[in-house]
Amino acid sequence: MRRASIGIWLTCLAAWGSPALSAEANGTRGASFDPAAAERGRIALTLRGFLKPEWSAPAFATAGRLWDFPAPDFDRDPAAYRAAFERRYGLHPAPYPNDGLPMGLRRGINPDGTKSTGFQVDCMVCHGGSIGGRSYVGLGNTQLDLGALGRDLTTADGRRPPPPVFVVNTSRGTTNAGMMAAVLISLRNSDLSRRIVPLPLGASFAELDAPAWWLLKRKQTMYFDGRTNARSVRTNMQFMLGEKTLQQFKDLEPTFRDVREFLLSLEPPRYPFAIDTEKAERGRTVFSENCARCHGTYGPNGRYPSKIVPLDVIGTDPARAKGASDRLVAHYNTTWFAEKDPVNPRMIGYQAPPLDGIWATAPYLHNGTVPTLHAILDSSSRPRRFTRPPSTGFENYDTTRVGWKHREVSAAELAATARRSAFEAGFLVDTSRYGMNNDGHTFGDELTEDERMDLIEYLKTL
Ligand code: HEC
Ligand code: HEC
Repeated sequence: MRRASIGIWLTCLAAWGSPALSAEANGTRGASFDPAAAERGRIALTLRGFLKPEWSAPAFATAGRLWDFPAPDFDRDPAAYRAAFERRYGLHPAPYPNDGLPMGLRRGINPDGTKSTGFQVDCMVCHGGSIGGRSYVGLGNTQLDLGALGRDLTTADGRRPPPPVFVVNTSRGTTNAGMMAAVLISLRNSDLSRRIVPLPLGASFAELDAPAWWLLKRKQTMYFDGRTNARSVRTNMQFMLGEKTLQQFKDLEPTFRDVREFLLSLEPPRYPFAIDTEKAERGRTVFSENCARCHGTYGPNGRYPSKIVPLDVIGTDPARAKGASDRLVAHYNTTWFAEKDPVNPRMIGYQAPPLDGIWATAPYLHNGTVPTLHAILDSSSRPRRFTRPPSTGFENYDTTRVGWKHREVSAAELAATARRSAFEAGFLVDTSRYGMNNDGHTFGDELTEDERMDLIEYLKTL
């Protein structure tokens, strides 16, 4: 039902990676970190476009006609229209100058290098989020309805959205970035020359939560399966496979090295509410005894092990880990993208992520199917079908269980909502869907409720 096609508006993304690196990262971005490059990277990422426009300027103004709620008049009140547009597709105000567009949309680049009036999506459509009314570059966008965004803008442009190749998202806030990358690379040969007939690579990813960028500096390996070198520059350039030639990729590599440095400079926002320090101190002990062996330690001498946990131990939904088929990895590894950082051909499971800023990144797990930290730590309490918050405002934030306030819904209610309104159905998560199971990670189940609450208090401090 909620499908869209691939096109160059489907940006990013690799979902596979490089050989497992040596033992333990020191929890810093490394000695070679270059602040001047990070500043150039910030400018490149937030102020410069890399792709041709996908939609004409009027598509932004007329998409409102396709909504199932009344749209403010674009000409009379552009700010109200933009706010409604942000609400409809789950976008956030840009915390940088962006030509009047929400974060995640950006004016495209004409063949002569000038700015087009038409526009595109960029990295921040998935990696730019907000919480408590503040936008952050690098916070995963947990509101995004990417399928509807692409479909509506194309329709508003007077074109028929291309036939669906895979499910982009069934619920808001998750996207099938893995399939986007897989489809784009299947349309290139090893030397990156274009193919008309896609290579049969057999990838089968489902939708995913976007990880916070501020975690990258602690990681040695990245992506949920930990098979890619976390310092790889070229992996972040795959989103341009819709249009760039090998030579253009080579020319842009230094810019994307700067972008990587910018990503390595990001810090998580601090928990903005009161923390009970005594409770948190007790929670620290619970954490070192039960969690640190996988998730590392925090504070000045924090160490993070970049540990990849086998699927049978972690027990979370296997679709993402198994979706990177051997043929996909093998093909990727023959291309320029993998020359310096080949993907580790061996699949193990999921990497235990660093938990810095974890308070701000609900819902949890790689598929965004657990609404609170409390539910992560008591697997029996996880809802099977539940609501996503109407916005990322603090009125929807649960400071006790830490994460999003939610309500469990029945299968019947879910089906009735889907019949009534695609917009409202986007706010419902159904963990019975492919790739969306929320079992596993049972490491908090044996804790007493007091220990669990102490641990949650500690997690607020990270
Ligand atoms: C369509 C949504 C989407 C877009 C657009 C997107 N990403 Fe991502 N990104 C994701 C998802 C989902 C993941 C997790 C993928 C996985 O591990 O399988 C991810 C992972 C990453 C990671 C690894 C983070 C980690 O800690 O493991 C980096 C780095 C990254 N993206 C950078 C970028 C950059 C740079 C751009 C723009 C050039 C971009 N992404 C565009 C969705 C997106
Ligand atoms: C055996 C290793 C292991 C242990 C022990 C462990 N975890 Fe995890 N944890 C993981 C892995 C792997 C994931 C990622 C699973 C996924 O996304 O499918 C994860 C995910 C999480 C997440 C979600 C992260 C996110 O960004 O969505 C949280 C929160 C978390 N763990 C907290 C804890 C706490 C607290 C403890 C201690 C009670 C703990 N974990 C114990 C391996 C472990």
